[in-house]
Amino acid sequence: MKNNNRAYPILFTISLVVIMNLFTSCYYDKEEILYPDTTCDTSVVKYSTAILPVLSSNCISCHGGSTPSAAINLSNYAGVKQQVDNGRLWGAVSHSANYSPMPKNGGQLNTCNLAKLRIWIAAGALNN
Ligand code: HEC
Repeated sequence: MKNNNRAYPILFTISLVVIMNLFTSCYYDKEEILYPDTTCDTSVVKYSTAILPVLSSNCISCHGGSTPSAAINLSNYAGVKQQVDNGRLWGAVSHSANYSPMPKNGGQLNTCNLAKLRIWIAAGALNN
């Protein structure tokens, strides 16, 4: 009986260590917390796989359909390329002075999406 009683504090300490370990390992195993940049893959930035999804989820609700806002249609490559070439697309998403900040009434695109747009535009805004 005496031996059993002595075992409790030891068992308690061991389980405490195990539980704490579980918590900390779960936290530190999260890649996005340890390496925030690895979640933004800018190694291959193509119109079809990187740019179109960003525009589709942030811009096309207004700049698409039969009557696109400001007559700017971003639902097809030709429309996007036109706004790249006249400098308005980057001016708007980067919130540069003299451009209307986009997405309108929404927060600025996150740094990852801005990086993708910048890289794609710098590489010639290809229809790839
Ligand atoms: C809620 C609707 C809405 C959304 C979402 C939106 N726009 Fe616009 N956009 C507008 C309107 C309306 C205008 C006309 C200018 C104004 O009213 O600010 C405009 C203007 C623009 C212009 C011209 C800006 C200038 O100063 O010449 C560009 C380029 C543009 N939008 C690109 C985008 C891009 C890229 C996105 C997504 C990242 C986007 N817009 C999202 C409504 C929207």
